[in-house]
Amino acid sequence: MASAQPFGIDFGGTGIKGAPVDLETGDFAADRERIRTPEKSTPEAIAEIFVDLLGKFPDCTGAVGVTVPGVVRHGVVHSAANIDKGWIGTDADKLFTEATGRDVHVVNDADAAGLAEVRYGAAKGRSGLVIVTTLGTGIGSALVHNGVLVPSSELGHLEIDGHDAESRAANSARTREDLSWEHWAKRLTKYYRTLEMLFSPDLFVVGGGVSKESDQFLPLLDISTEIIPAQLRNRAGVVGAALYASEGGS
Ligand code: BGC
Repeated sequence: MASAQPFGIDFGGTGIKGAPVDLETGDFAADRERIRTPEKSTPEAIAEIFVDLLGKFPDCTGAVGVTVPGVVRHGVVHSAANIDKGWIGTDADKLFTEATGRDVHVVNDADAAGLAEVRYGAAKGRSGLVIVTTLGTGIGSALVHNGVLVPSSELGHLEIDGHDAESRAANSARTREDLSWEHWAKRLTKYYRTLEMLFSPDLFVVGGGVSKESDQFLPLLDISTEIIPAQLRNRAGVVGAALYASEGGS
């Protein structure tokens, strides 16, 4: 039976994951599909993959949300720190809508995770300013105030001590430099203290793959604000993208 449930696509460096999403529960409405991200991840190559991916769910006809690890303004991608530079200036909403024949809305990956955590996850029911950060290859951020997203905050690129913050405090810096949890926690303390000073948030939520090991590092952080791990784990991108698209994008 055809379903107007929205479809979420999480476009990442290694995999492209997609599933229809049940907006009542924030769960996948069918088993998720995963396709390896091609080496040349230009917008055009990715558009072809989306066509294949959506073709696996012929009964799902709703709006489609897609995460992109870069600044997105009104469907146009404006930065590409860790992806093919060909994305910069691409009207991704238009490209993917034309390629797939579906109503596609593109959203920053961390913003998608932020929306999902606030609606269904760790920050559900929390008021005030929630800052969701994702610690991965880069650092993504979502600013959500009383449930309303302020998009493309890009707080991973704050300059701290003359460095792009994510180059020192992302999870990729921890693995690349083989940092101990204690050493990494010092860098994270500096990072989150800077965010505290600038934004006085009510809550930090920490996502990204490493959040499943949050016991190893969150207790070591020396900051004043409550900080908790994300709950949706690797569902956050797909669920947040679908939620974003269901609300008509920006
Ligand atoms: C990008 C952000 C993205 C984050 C996490 C950063 O390098 O600039 O747009 O949200 O990485 O993928």
